[in-house]
Amino acid sequence: MEPLFPFLDLKAQFATIRDEVMAAVTRVMESQQFILGKEGEELEGEIAQRVGVSAAVGCASGTDALMLALQALGVGAGDEVIAAPFTFVASAGAIARLGAKPVFVDIQPDTFNLDPNLIERALSGRTRAILPVHLFGLAADLDPILEVAKAHRLPVIEDAAQSIDASYRGSKVGSLGAVGCFSFYPTKNLSGAGEGGLLTTNDPELADRFRVLRDQGSRQRYSYEVLGTNSRLDEIQAAILRVKLRCLDAWTAARRRNAARYAAIFKECGLGDCVKLPVEPPGFFHVYNQFTVRCPERDRLREFLCRRGIPSQTYYPFPLHLQPAFSYLGHRAGEFPEAERASREVLSFPIYPELSAERQTSVGRAIAEFYDKARA
Ligand SMILES: Cc1ncc(COP(=O)(O)O)c(C=O)c1O
Repeated sequence: MEPLFPFLDLKAQFATIRDEVMAAVTRVMESQQFILGKEGEELEGEIAQRVGVSAAVGCASGTDALMLALQALGVGAGDEVIAAPFTFVASAGAIARLGAKPVFVDIQPDTFNLDPNLIERALSGRTRAILPVHLFGLAADLDPILEVAKAHRLPVIEDAAQSIDASYRGSKVGSLGAVGCFSFYPTKNLSGAGEGGLLTTNDPELADRFRVLRDQGSRQRYSYEVLGTNSRLDEIQAAILRVKLRCLDAWTAARRRNAARYAAIFKECGLGDCVKLPVEPPGFFHVYNQFTVRCPERDRLREFLCRRGIPSQTYYPFPLHLQPAFSYLGHRAGEFPEAERASREVLSFPIYPELSAERQTSVGRAIAEFYDKARA
């Protein structure tokens, strides 16, 4: 059955900002300056200030942000980088594409993020960085990760693609490690009209390297001090992102309201024992890029909801260590049990800011119907 409403309704968002977005696009069209202009520079300044870092550097995607971060830190062939096995492919993929080895460390079952207690034993003489992901809008437990990193003089690269404005013990994600990597892909909390990404850092030398690497390794036209790539954030994206950035506080508040509303609805529907809700540990500020629950009968539940037109998504159905693209690493099922169990049990429901209470209630009622039938 066709979903009764979308999983993510970007048209509803656009309806609220149409005039400002169209004016921003027109402004760029009138200027005919499309690459490395004023809009990008302004956006970098606005995001740096918001995240609480000295520099932000735009680039073409979140994937490129990860590549540029690793490259700027000197990661290359034969090196190892600590990575999460339960996440989007881009972080481990960037490590591997630079010739380095992603060394997976299992996740915590409640937060879905890297388990800091397991990092130390995964380090070797070849480890060059630790790359935690702040998954679904919740920061990884950064203090113990930073502690291990400091003890071993390793930089931490934060994959904050899903978590702009999330915070950890009072600091925004992207401000605590050596580098923060962000994505403006359309499903993100701050999204462009296409692809886009950004790096944050407090290290001026690193920021300078990002700028050179994103522009073909060039500081001066037709002079190449290193080999870089073409990964610049274009002016139309930057201008649109600047409009949306002004709405981000309200959108994050709406996502958090929706998360609280799901919790109340699920409780009211008697789902407390059936579905495990996302957690927000003390000192963490969750921005709910996804509202992801876990339940052992995930596949049957999803099928049931699908037949009733209730939208849901599985992020992510397979852990990275068991993906064909990483088969050369020789991992086997059972090596990262929490990542594997999460892949079997997670299910995400619509959480976008404009989502109505009625739609959230319809999600809760349909889930309750599934469990009532299962119990009968
Ligand atoms: C956790 C995570 N890291 C990295 C990326 C890559 O970002 P992009 O799609 O902008 O390349 C994404 C999302 O798409 C993501 O969710």
